[in-house]
Amino acid sequence: MKRFLLLLTIIYLPVQAQESSIIKIETEASALVLKVGKNKKLYQTYLGTKLNNSAEYEAVSKENTENFVVNDGNPLIDLRHAAYPTFGTDNLFEPAIRITHNDGNPSLELEYQSHTVQKTDDNTAEIIIKLKDPEYPVFVNLHYKTFYKENVIESWTEILHNEKKPVMLYNYASSALHLDADQYWLTQFYSDVVEEVRMEESQLTRGIKVIDSKLGVRTNMFASPSFFLSLNSKSGENTGEVIAGTIAWSGNFKYTFDIDNNNELRIISGINEFASEYNLEPGKTFKTPVFIYTFSNHGKGQASRNLHAWARKYGLKDGEKPRLTLLNNWETTFFDFDENKLANMFTDAKTLGVDMFLLDDGWFGNKYPRSGSTSGLGDWQATKSKLPNGIGFLMEQAQKTNVKFGIWIEPEMINEKTELYEKHPDWVLSLPNREKSIYRTQLVLDLCNPQVQDFVFKVVDDIMQTKSGVAFFKWDCNRMMTSAYSTYLKNQQSHLFIEYTKGLYKVLDRIKTKYPNLPMMLCAGGGGRVDYGMLNYFTEFWASDNTDPFDRVFIQWGYSNFYPALATCNHVTSMGNQSIKFKTDVAMMGKLGFDIHVGGLKPNELQFCQQAVSNYKSLSPVIWQGDLYRLISPYEESRAVLMYVSQDKSKSVVFSYTLHPLTDPNYSLVRLEGLDPLKKYKVEEINIMPEAKNTFEASGNVFSGDFLMKVGVKVSSVKQESSVVLEITAVD
Ligand code: DGJ
Repeated sequence: MKRFLLLLTIIYLPVQAQESSIIKIETEASALVLKVGKNKKLYQTYLGTKLNNSAEYEAVSKENTENFVVNDGNPLIDLRHAAYPTFGTDNLFEPAIRITHNDGNPSLELEYQSHTVQKTDDNTAEIIIKLKDPEYPVFVNLHYKTFYKENVIESWTEILHNEKKPVMLYNYASSALHLDADQYWLTQFYSDVVEEVRMEESQLTRGIKVIDSKLGVRTNMFASPSFFLSLNSKSGENTGEVIAGTIAWSGNFKYTFDIDNNNELRIISGINEFASEYNLEPGKTFKTPVFIYTFSNHGKGQASRNLHAWARKYGLKDGEKPRLTLLNNWETTFFDFDENKLANMFTDAKTLGVDMFLLDDGWFGNKYPRSGSTSGLGDWQATKSKLPNGIGFLMEQAQKTNVKFGIWIEPEMINEKTELYEKHPDWVLSLPNREKSIYRTQLVLDLCNPQVQDFVFKVVDDIMQTKSGVAFFKWDCNRMMTSAYSTYLKNQQSHLFIEYTKGLYKVLDRIKTKYPNLPMMLCAGGGGRVDYGMLNYFTEFWASDNTDPFDRVFIQWGYSNFYPALATCNHVTSMGNQSIKFKTDVAMMGKLGFDIHVGGLKPNELQFCQQAVSNYKSLSPVIWQGDLYRLISPYEESRAVLMYVSQDKSKSVVFSYTLHPLTDPNYSLVRLEGLDPLKKYKVEEINIMPEAKNTFEASGNVFSGDFLMKVGVKVSSVKQESSVVLEITAVD
């Protein structure tokens, strides 16, 4: 019935090609406006806050297209804001597309043909604009999908042609956007292993700034594929105009920020075309990945909330469903475990009160057992000497203990010391006539090859077909590509980076189709591969192998800009010498897990953890589905304070983390946000160590939302590496 109703609501509006027609791409609060010029070319005339009177976009468009100085009147040079800038004729700046035709002509012109507006439901619509080269049978379709309430736009491009032979694509962006402001401030998120998503904001100057990856796989090890671009001045959490952009692509990505002679900015987003020219066959469609962005005139906080809301509903696998709390064994056992040790850990998981035990690396390989990182990767059979009864037995044992069972795999990678490599040496990416390039003693399997895709799918399928199957996978990926060459691709090596990523998606599509309810954690030696391409298949991601809670505050803060809390896995471990309370409170700001020796906890620590797990379970709907407000940034003070508020504003949870204050920090009151000013709220400190006193002196008091937001409360402890968690409940 629901499906039937949905079909009824689909409205399909074909629009006639018209000169000077305006195309509005609107959400509740923002608008992107395009215009077909008299010359049939398509221009962007507006991107910003939605106007009250949409008829006035005509005036903006006039202003932006007709009054624009066209290079001292020379009609051949077109400096205006082409919606999808081409190369080879009159474009003077970065192109979104560059191709060479069969006859060797290296230019492309695109003229508007028609567009359609398809409203798929009450919240989403898709606008498709068809463009064509007037002289060659080359077609470009620009797609814009709007998410009205979330104020998010997805944009991607299809390129196709009917020339006689393949056409070579050199540039093939997902999106081009134009902005006109006095200043542009870029926030980028640089990374490294154990140092993920560090924020850096700087003013863009004339010329080109590029953020990209050339790593092939695990592509955001050095740079996250997301950015904030603030207009006119730096934006704050609640102030300023800002665009937040990210891409659903797990291969090489590239953002180009190009400021021209008029101080106008062009942002080109998409696959990194570096070493990736693409031979497009006639009749085939090249579909770019989706660029996702939101425009906020209330700062970065609103931009993040827009993306979180979009992600929970549309961008993240099962974003509106609950997650499993867990106990992982990686940091306590590494490769050293057997059936008995694991059975004890199942009991530990039960004792803590978490939902699942997650068995990490080291359970497989027989001819070359996985007793360290140098062997076994690729031979996905349980090691008989460690696990004589196989993983089916572990599944049964976990079930008996009443905990779920999850398992680690790294199916895209292989050690040379494996039966798999002995059998299929041609399945790895490796250059002819050169030494193999080994990293973490492993090589990358060639996912361009359909046989390899079948193998990788079977790794998951075989485990799922064993006894009751597992409740969860952790899918790791511990290296990038170097010296990469695909035997399968033969003379089309420039397709490798793209075909690998597409091959990976094909495998993940098969898994998602066969096991639609299977939760999976995305991992890449920490957070080396966090993007919305992968998160279409994964319910969550491992944020970093750095679990020291001090560093972790910065890492989790970084991810919170683009990813909702329920996607970010944080584990309490023995890394760092802070208290168990600080570690647990830090982990609770996202998806809570543990990776500690439970037997080694003191009685009061265990009691604290059990209480914290129980608190987390009752508060997780707010943390997972609520709105995030970042109140005090660890980049600005020696503390971090943030809060989540439920959609109905009846419940909230505040986390305050004190880091390294130099002297008595004399912290100011913190004004809360997002509450209902008319509601009364009880504010209680939770997660207190047994027999310890409250840090928050007003715990248990009732305040109005108005007071909490206008006056604020003293939430932070002054002690180095300490924390306070407040549960706020409407009492009206
Ligand atoms: C890297 C991951 O980030 C760790 O959590 C762990 O799973 C190891 N790989 C196992 O090799």
